[in-house]
Amino acid sequence: GDYSGHYRPQIHFSAPVGFINDPNGLFLDDNGTYHLYYQYNPTDTIAGNQHWGHATSTDLYTWENQPIALAPDNSTSFIFSGSIVIDPNNTSGLFPNQTNGVLAYYTLDGPDQQTQDLAHSHDGGYTFTKYANNPLIAIGSSQYRDPKVLWYAPAQHWVMVVAYAQEFTIEILTSPNGLDWTFASNFTHHGLLGTQYECPNLVEMPMQGSDTTMWLLYISINPGAPLGGSIGQYIPGAFNGTHFSAVDAAARIADWGKDNYAGQFFSNIPGTQDQVSIAWASNWQYTNYVPTGPAEGWASAMSLPRVNYLRNATRTGYTLVSLPYGLEGLKGKEAVASNEDLGGNGTLLADLSDGSGAFMIDVNMTGLNLTGLSNTASVNFTIMASGSGEAINGGTFMNADATTWVDRGRIQGWSNIYYTDKFSTAYVVEDSFDFQVIVDRSMIEIFGLEGEKSATLVYYPEALLDTVIVRTGGLNEGVSVSANVYSLEGTWG
Ligand code: FRU
Repeated sequence: GDYSGHYRPQIHFSAPVGFINDPNGLFLDDNGTYHLYYQYNPTDTIAGNQHWGHATSTDLYTWENQPIALAPDNSTSFIFSGSIVIDPNNTSGLFPNQTNGVLAYYTLDGPDQQTQDLAHSHDGGYTFTKYANNPLIAIGSSQYRDPKVLWYAPAQHWVMVVAYAQEFTIEILTSPNGLDWTFASNFTHHGLLGTQYECPNLVEMPMQGSDTTMWLLYISINPGAPLGGSIGQYIPGAFNGTHFSAVDAAARIADWGKDNYAGQFFSNIPGTQDQVSIAWASNWQYTNYVPTGPAEGWASAMSLPRVNYLRNATRTGYTLVSLPYGLEGLKGKEAVASNEDLGGNGTLLADLSDGSGAFMIDVNMTGLNLTGLSNTASVNFTIMASGSGEAINGGTFMNADATTWVDRGRIQGWSNIYYTDKFSTAYVVEDSFDFQVIVDRSMIEIFGLEGEKSATLVYYPEALLDTVIVRTGGLNEGVSVSANVYSLEGTWG
């Protein structure tokens, strides 16, 4: 593939050609290779003709595109989203002489119904055979999809979560062998509904600052998200092998931007370790209209790989922390621009025109005192295209609370009725705050308060964004603000 195009992300995954949506089958194999499969239309730059594309990586940034992993057998049954597990103990009986057997669960979207089907791989996830006795689960529903499977060690059984999309129900099933599935429970009508539940994940996660783990049910909703179209939400809780119970009645959104959907967590990472996820960085409202297809022959990219755990946050309670996975390796040795103390009224300017088009802004504040500050107390950024005058603006107002905002409205390359431009969120802040902004040609991700919240947005500029200005204004005496801008090395050659 040609990854040199003007819109092409340089550190994010996108397919060589064609359209992608949900990440599927994410798993870490026992050799340390991460496998990313994805909803793939190899023949057009709009959604449809669903296959599972495939790519592998050892660092989640440097990807090797692999041959298509799963293709439909005919033109009326498509390979929809699903998940992968390794079957080291050969519970399925499909892998008599190996410990790296791979089970891929997917929804077969047929003309009359959506069924849960299986494919197995005997070469570690590179080639697959469809299971002879498919479907595994067929109930005659046309809205029943996206199986995510895990091994629940305490009960020595497999667990599947799957969505009854239009009934706002996540079904939990169990199986001794990964082939025969029994209903265990339903979890229904929790949090935001939108008009459908899709792509559930059930994950065990470490709690920050403790030796315990908690469970997380992650559900994607589409359409009808609070900001329009599609978004992910998550529910912290407890799981006993058959039933999930939420810790409270809150609805918690996974991203305050508009382009983060169908997030999936890698399997084969123990629940006591930080979990790793990737989401589709687009929105069903406008994904079929973005300009990358006509201009460059590809459409949609994945979010940054994220590190995740749970934090019991001040006042808001259990919160999914999401931070960029191991970006250190892509950072230049030295910052392009750096100021260890911008103070309450300072400016930092960075020229990134020599770089890949991918870069990072890192701001850290200590000694904050938000009492009595004016409404304009802030640390803001402008990310400009010197070639066109376009810009993304954003930052954080630091007064009664910390409100982070971003505005993609001064990007002129493309627009759409649903492509809204201004977003914000608020944090409970004590005496410190931090945020990181990662920019990659047509994508921006913002992380704040040690990953407590994140925003993912796409944009399509006429010229490359190549200049960063960070400005502090009106902050209190005694505050210390460090700002660093790093160039990120592209991983697509
Ligand atoms: C979510 C989704 C899934 C489905 C897949 C089809 O984005 O609608 O529910 O399996 O995409 O591509």
